[in-house]
Formats: sequence, structure tokens, C-alpha cells
Amino acid sequence: MGKERKAHGAHCLVLSFPAQGHINPLLQFSKRLEHKGVKVTFVTTRFITNSINKESSSSTINIEAISDGFDQGGMAAAESHEAYLERFWQVGPETLAQLLDKLDNSGNPVDCVVYDSFMPWALDIAKKFGLIGAVFLSQSNAVNNIYYHVHQGKLKLPLSNTQLLLPGLPPLAPHDMPTFLYAFGTNPAFRNVLVDQFSNIKRADWVLCNTFYDLEPEVTDWLMKILPAVRTIGPTIPSMFLDKQLEDDKCYGFSIFKTEKEACIKWLDDKPNGSVVYVSFGSVAVLDSEQMEEIAFGLRNSGSYFIWVVRASEEEKLPKDFLNASNEKGLVVTWSPQLQVLAHEAVGCFMTHCGWNSTIEALSLGVPAIAVPHMSDQSTNAKFIMDVWEMGIIASVDEKGIVRQQAIENCIRELLESDRGKEIKRNANKWKTLTLDALDEGGSSNKILKSLSPSWFILFL
Ligand code: UDX
Repeated sequence: MGKERKAHGAHCLVLSFPAQGHINPLLQFSKRLEHKGVKVTFVTTRFITNSINKESSSSTINIEAISDGFDQGGMAAAESHEAYLERFWQVGPETLAQLLDKLDNSGNPVDCVVYDSFMPWALDIAKKFGLIGAVFLSQSNAVNNIYYHVHQGKLKLPLSNTQLLLPGLPPLAPHDMPTFLYAFGTNPAFRNVLVDQFSNIKRADWVLCNTFYDLEPEVTDWLMKILPAVRTIGPTIPSMFLDKQLEDDKCYGFSIFKTEKEACIKWLDDKPNGSVVYVSFGSVAVLDSEQMEEIAFGLRNSGSYFIWVVRASEEEKLPKDFLNASNEKGLVVTWSPQLQVLAHEAVGCFMTHCGWNSTIEALSLGVPAIAVPHMSDQSTNAKFIMDVWEMGIIASVDEKGIVRQQAIENCIRELLESDRGKEIKRNANKWKTLTLDALDEGGSSNKILKSLSPSWFILFL
């Protein structure tokens, strides 16, 4: 099979788990590959490809779908997370194989499958077809290290209440660990997915990590000893946002949500530089009403301008009249063009749940963060934001786990008005420069990507 394929240009199938926080980096990675001369077919579930917000889809990349068994409603149509994953894990491999056959029969054979680490079964299918299999890990290498230790049985669950010392990482307190491990019993289905990312990883031809070497040198060195196929290729953020040379629309992939792009950019355009707090908790976090109220009042009391992303499903939790009362100072939208917002000069800081994409986007664009972690890997990312990269602060929580309005107001004032805030901004800018270095010609991530371009395929076929 390999020999026949040599005659064609390199063709890579990129498979994403059906969640915005996975689609974004994998789609951005696809565009990078395409830019390096590789033909890409981007694949996620049928429900997602059917519900993509077409306005935001300016991609030239070929898009195909597999089934998760819930073509009409996706994960929300399943009885539980367990039921969803069980069905997906049955139907997904079968439909991926059918898709590979279809592409083969239509004269468009695939040479390599880059698959989301949440779906390790994709490697078995790739190998069955005699293809290169490259796994894409969409969390930080610090978090990869933690899940790897759990997978190896070297970290026993539930985690004990003591500080943890892992190779290449600073000491981690229990509250710095990913929540699915610490709060044993919460969401076992997803905890298994996170741990299973490492089940067959040693058989993957490449292990692609959405981070860059200078950001996580010690832990990357350690990981490369354990998994020699590790390559840091991140951040996947379109370089055009960083150098602003290309049309912004071209870099946006597709969004499950309707993006209020013009409203955001127009609103930001007449605000003073560094004056706006951008607030977003990503695509999945569900905050309780009490927390939403505290954020609302904290923002209002700070007297700062703000843009707050409140997904449609969360809107009813906003305090009554908040939208009207905050008209002059704030804009509430259901989804923003986040990279463009973060790249806007008016933005002074980012109140974030610390999803890995938001974290690395803030860092790459030099925007100081107010960390309000919610679940999963977010507490680990928050720890690094404040104590390792020193490009943000963690908002304190009370005994109920709520960030109170006073804490929010204090964090905003600290970042936008204090000397420490200026220091943090300088650090954030330093990370922006280091990101550009990594992505630049000759930079660490760029060099690796180049080595993954067509010659890479010839090497293996
Ligand atoms: C999920 C998990 O929650 C997170 O912990 C994990 O690290 C990745 O997967 P999510 O919660 O959606 O992701 O957060 P994040 O990783 O930050 O990804 C959100 C993506 O949506 C980012 O790329 C961000 O730029 C984009 N976004 C977010 C928008 O484009 N507009 C918005 O209004 C909000």
C-alpha cells in the first residue's frame, strides 16, 4: 500500500474530538500543514460538521465526517457521558475505516492520520490501513506528564492530600492537579478518556504536543526520554494573528457558536489601549448563578471596560438588568472572535477559566491573565500562569469555592493599575516574543513542522 501512495502528494487526515477546544487547535494545525504543502482532510463528527456556523467557516480545507452514533444531537442527545462515549467508541472506528476506504476509492488516498489523543482507537485503524499515525495531544506537557503517571499506575487515585513531586515539574499542591483526578468520582467517563490517551501512545509514529520548547523545557525533556516520538509544534495559533500580515478571516476555522465578530471589534476600536477586561470561560464551563452574579458585580465595581462572553445557555444566570445597566462600560456577547479580541490593543487583561487554548492564546498574544479555573486541567494551567510563567494572577476563592466580587475587583485593579500589573505585562510580552521566536523560520516549533512536511512522508512510506 505504501509504495502506491508515493506517487501522490502527501495527504493527511486530521481527526478531532467533537469539542470546540479540540477543533480549534487541530484545525489551526491543519492550516499550518497545508501551508507547508500537505493536503489535509479535516474530520470530526457528523453532528458537528452539520452544525458548524457557516459564516465563520472560510476554510479551504476539505472537511469530512465520521459518526459518533448521535448524528442528530451529538453529546447532548446521549443519556450520559458514559453512554455517549460507549456508542462513539463503537461507531467511530467503523466509520473512520469507511471514510479511509472512500478516500482511497476516489483516488484521494491518505498517507497519514493525525488523531486527537482522546481517540486512541484511531491509531489502530491507521495501522490497519498501513498509514502513519501521529497523535496530537491538546493539553500542556505538564498535564501530559500527570496523566501519563496515572496511566502507568505511578500516581494512585484518588490522589492523596499531599504535595506531589513529578519529574520536570514544580511541586504541585492537590489544588493544582487536574480536577478529574483530585475529585475522585467526578466524571469517571472523561477521567478514563484522559488517562487512556496514553494507552497505545508508544506505537504512534509521532507524538505532537501543542506547546513549545521554551515554555516547558524541563518537562518536555523528560517526556522525550519516555516517548522519543514527542515533538512540540505549538502553539497552533495562526501565525497571521501574530504578525498581522494576512487577512484575519482566513485564520478562523469554524465555530459551533455564532461569533459576534463585528460587534466586538467595533466596540473595542474606540476604547483606550490596555483598558478593557476580556472575560471568557470557554466552550463548556457551566458556572452557577451565584458565581455569575459575583463576576457581574466585580466587573461593574471595578469601573473598567469589559467584554464578557456569556454563552446563550448561560445568559439567564446574569443578574436582572445587568445588561442594561452595564451598557456604557460593558459588552456581553454569546461568542467572540477570541484571537482577534486578545490581539486588540484595547484589551488590558483576560479573565479566563484557563482552558489550555485560552491559556496559550493569552500567553502568545502577551495578554496578562486573571485565572479563574473551573475544572479539568485548568487548575494546573492556572498554577503555571501565576507561578511559573508569571504572566497572571489566580483569583482567590472563598470556602464555598466561589470567587467573590471583591476578589475580582482587586485582581482587575492589580493587573490594570498597579506596579505588579506592569511587571506581569512585561512578562506576558516576553512570552509573546518567545512564541514568535518558536514559530519563526528557524524557531523550534517551525523547524519541527518543516520536518513533518512531505519529506517526512517519503521517509516512512
Ligand atoms: C476544553 C477544556 O475545558 C479545557 O480545559 C482543555 O484544556 C481544552 O478543552 P474549553 O473549555 O472550550 O476547552 O477552553 P479552551 O481550551 O480555552 O478553548 C476554547 C477555544 O474557543 C479557544 O480556542 C478560544 O479562542 C475559543 N473561543 C472561546 C472563541 O473563539 N470565542 C469565545 O468567545 C470563547
